[in-house]
Amino acid sequence: MLAILKLGGSILCDKNVPFSIKWDNLERISMEIRNAIDYYDTNDDKLNLIIIHGGGSFGHPVAKKYLNKDNKNNNKKEFYNMEKGFWDIQKAMRKFNNIVINNLHDYDIPAVSIQPSSFIAFDKGEIHFDTYAIEGMIKRGLIPVIHGDIVLDGESNYKIFSGDHALPYLTKKLKPNLSLHASDVDGVLDSNNNVIEKINSENINNVLKYLKPSDKNDITGGMYLKVMESYNSGIKTIIFNGNKKGNIYSALIGEVRGTEIN
Ligand code: IPE
Repeated sequence: MLAILKLGGSILCDKNVPFSIKWDNLERISMEIRNAIDYYDTNDDKLNLIIIHGGGSFGHPVAKKYLNKDNKNNNKKEFYNMEKGFWDIQKAMRKFNNIVINNLHDYDIPAVSIQPSSFIAFDKGEIHFDTYAIEGMIKRGLIPVIHGDIVLDGESNYKIFSGDHALPYLTKKLKPNLSLHASDVDGVLDSNNNVIEKINSENINNVLKYLKPSDKNDITGGMYLKVMESYNSGIKTIIFNGNKKGNIYSALIGEVRGTEIN
């Protein structure tokens, strides 16, 4: 049983306070992952897992310092002063990743760090991401923990590699049984704030039309990118509320309520 779980930065951090951790959530999430591993073990099955976490209040505020402020076109963000920015963003994310991994270790979860800035790159919109080692780790019972990060783009540019890139990429490549998106809302909401239970070829265009652009502190794409990327992966993805007690556990055992994108 292979699951890929993305923990949005906002369930692990207070996005309005730089370098803040929501410790209650982190502890609870680690415990629920532990319980899910135990659930599979007692049912003679094994939970193979990849965890992805976002930038939260570590990556976003630091990356913002190096984004060209004059550029009004949201889709063409340019980084500058990256001789410093690259290591500064990498360092913020390393710090966050360390905190997450240390907490997982407290619950005897064999988490190992995967740092995208060291080996992942974009070129002409395409992601270069070799998963050979990650697949080998999974076979050995280790749990790779990947995070949003700064990466190289083309000949001389830089780009944010978001957890929302990592989830559909790995989903498409590794074809997990479950692809899970733990967000801070109950799912994708319609204009009346009701959860849209299913998104598929029939309603995708409508849904994308009214999804709000992400807030000002979020330098990646928010819900719009999540839905778009998940839909394009062609594999069932569930977006659910990771802030609610029990939901991470339910999601890992395949029983969570949220939005199913197919
Ligand atoms: C962003 O990653 C990484 C950096 C800003 C360096 P994500 O886009 O996955 O982060 P969240 O989930 O929105 O916090």
